[in-house]
Amino acid sequence: MKILGIESSCDDTSVALIKVNKNDFIVLAEKTASQIEIHKKYGGVVPEIAGRMHAEKILPVIEEVMKGQDKPDVIAVTCGPGLITGLLVGVEAAKSLSYLWNVPLVAVNHIEGHIHSVEISHEQFSISNIQYPALALIASGGHTELIWIKSKGQYKKIGATVDDAAGECFDKTAKLLNLEYPGGPKISQYAETGNNKAINFPRPMLDKNNYDFSFAGLKTSALYWLKDNKLIMLNKITSNTTKSKYLNNQKVFPTNTQENITIHDFCASFEQAIIDVLVGKTLKALKKYQPKTVILGGGVSANKKLRQTLAAEINKLSPKLKFLSPSLKYAMDNATMIALVGYYKAFKKEYTSWQNIKANPNWEIE
Ligand code: KG4
Ligand code: ZN
Repeated sequence: MKILGIESSCDDTSVALIKVNKNDFIVLAEKTASQIEIHKKYGGVVPEIAGRMHAEKILPVIEEVMKGQDKPDVIAVTCGPGLITGLLVGVEAAKSLSYLWNVPLVAVNHIEGHIHSVEISHEQFSISNIQYPALALIASGGHTELIWIKSKGQYKKIGATVDDAAGECFDKTAKLLNLEYPGGPKISQYAETGNNKAINFPRPMLDKNNYDFSFAGLKTSALYWLKDNKLIMLNKITSNTTKSKYLNNQKVFPTNTQENITIHDFCASFEQAIIDVLVGKTLKALKKYQPKTVILGGGVSANKKLRQTLAAEINKLSPKLKFLSPSLKYAMDNATMIALVGYYKAFKKEYTSWQNIKANPNWEIE
């Protein structure tokens, strides 16, 4: 069976064609048009621009992936959650192709895609043995969720962010430092050589007796710290990183000032605060729910320190517990993970007609 996957929920127009034979999967072609260069100028994704760029790229990208290929057996498309401007483009393209080729359609939840991204090791892969029940932490630019997976395809969201997502917090704080979008990778690069104990940032909601997250306050404390303190810029990582209005500020009314803190220390301390919250909440859920597998997915799962810390803590708690995270290529938004979930749904004949399929920016996984 061949599945064409289409993903356009944020700032990547991604299309993939996969072939499935029993448990063996082959990625026949995958192409992603990234909009990062355009959104960089604005320090984050601008929904109207994202929609226009998806509309411009979707057909050329599909054409390139389908070059020399027969029509697929199934089309899988991300219907939500995400930006409505982007989702509409992917869904409309999928609908048109379904009608033209007379091929069935599958609606895929983006978060479900990130969950199953841990099964894709490279271009040829066998379905990994996620053992159920499983617990998934999905952290990206738009989402931070803890999901209980009782058995394959049976989801229950047990916790989520009440304000900003973890990736959004990385991106907004990076913007304060005048680092380019997406800020997560830049902050983690600076953090590598910094002192993570230099600044005592808050760990929001860590001691609350639930599995929810909150990152807006952390971003605000980063802002206040930068206003009140001097940051020493050392070893610039990106050549076009310019001085932020908060960097090397002359203090007017200094309060609680800290001296000799570098941007590396700032980033390491900030990153550590996010990691402590993500790992702390996951461990809390893990102790209560007792899964057989823990899954870490979403763009923030590309963070090396987060992976290492979570893996080490899980191993400390229960060495038999399986920990899965995606290979770096598939940690970011991609259409291969959408095609893979599309296959699972097609296998169960969970189709949606082209007349009924709809983009749903707030689609909750269930
Ligand atoms: O899953 P994704 O590609 O798109 C969404 O669905 O949002 O995630 C993108 C997010 C961005 O916020 C980006 O800053 C973050 O993932 N990210 C990272 C790292 N790499 C990407 N955050 C922290 N550390 C990283 N190494
Ligand atoms: Zn995503």
